[in-house]
Amino acid sequence: MYIEDVKDQMNLPESVRIFDTTLRDGEQTPGVALTVDEKIGIARKLDKLGVDTIEAGFPAASPGEMNSIGRIVELDLDANTCGLARVLKEDIDAAIDCGVDYIHTFIGTSPLHRRYKLKMSPEEIIEKAVFGVEYAADHGLKVEFSAEDATRTEFDYLLDVYRAAEDAGADIINVPDTVGVMIPRAMNHMVSRLVDELKVPVSVHCHNDFGLAVANSLAAVEAGASQVHATINGLGERAGNAALEEVVMALITRYDLPLPVRTTELVSISEFVSRLTGVRMPPNKAIVGENAFAHEAGIHVHGVLEKAETYEPITPEMVGHKRRIVLGKHTGANALRSKLREYDIEMNEEQFCTLYEQVKRLGDKGKRITDADLRAMAVTILGKA
Ligand code: KIV
Ligand code: ZN
Repeated sequence: MYIEDVKDQMNLPESVRIFDTTLRDGEQTPGVALTVDEKIGIARKLDKLGVDTIEAGFPAASPGEMNSIGRIVELDLDANTCGLARVLKEDIDAAIDCGVDYIHTFIGTSPLHRRYKLKMSPEEIIEKAVFGVEYAADHGLKVEFSAEDATRTEFDYLLDVYRAAEDAGADIINVPDTVGVMIPRAMNHMVSRLVDELKVPVSVHCHNDFGLAVANSLAAVEAGASQVHATINGLGERAGNAALEEVVMALITRYDLPLPVRTTELVSISEFVSRLTGVRMPPNKAIVGENAFAHEAGIHVHGVLEKAETYEPITPEMVGHKRRIVLGKHTGANALRSKLREYDIEMNEEQFCTLYEQVKRLGDKGKRITDADLRAMAVTILGKA
């Protein structure tokens, strides 16, 4: 309703490509290192999910990394397999040796990167960027170019860099919010200007340092960005990247954009990646968290049991999740009756009241009541009858 009111103020693209970087930026999550087989397992699941591009890693990082990227290329997936490279011959050669058909090449452009990291003049950086893009394009690769720390780069200079990359043969221009400093309105403004000025599609790569990665990615799409970088479970450097499951579900259900993603696979891939990386999701994580479709408060459970949409914005089935009715001090009689029905437990009114009181008493003590606890309590009450 309210979204429709503002849609005509947006410059939405016809569709949005999903560039998954779980195996590259996601693997840069502190403490995470995946084996070759684990990377292959995740790549297969990403392909089944239907992402457009899989950034499989950073080939120049190590021989092991080259090996795993090469093995992912051999899978001959439907998704493009991409490798990350600095704008250096040796990095691009390493990616070519892995057999990727798509390269994501980058160089820092902000004053901080120019002065402290690269120790290069603005002109030298443009020269290097042009070299990298041309070299990759001359080798027949699809080229995506990123100006690292774009969102802290002077706009006129950034545009010069991007125009030079475009003229050198870049197929896509990516805008990294490398340290997650943007806010949605500024991201929208910046991307609008870039979309107006550039001929090739514009993509965004948002970090989550202020918890705004998904919001900034969506603001960029509203401005015409037609590709979003994301990771499963929002993994990535520091506070991570935009969470793929959140971006995808927002684009499909809030913006009505047609994405060829099999959303019913989202919970399964989230759990798989969580198990392999050891990074557990908080229960209240949007879309895939244990509590994303769990209800405890009596009023909510009553509403959901009557009509799920009262307290659920989408169905759990849409993302491969399950609705859960949780018992605790907020539980209402309706919820308890529905649980008993679920387990085929029949009770008279007196027995039901005893059980209901026990649930409330335990809930008041802050106890979590599992379904197994409930069944045990019910059996005891029935046994006493
Ligand atoms: O966050 C970033 O700037 C990156 C680059 C490699 C694009 O991950
Ligand atoms: Zn990044």
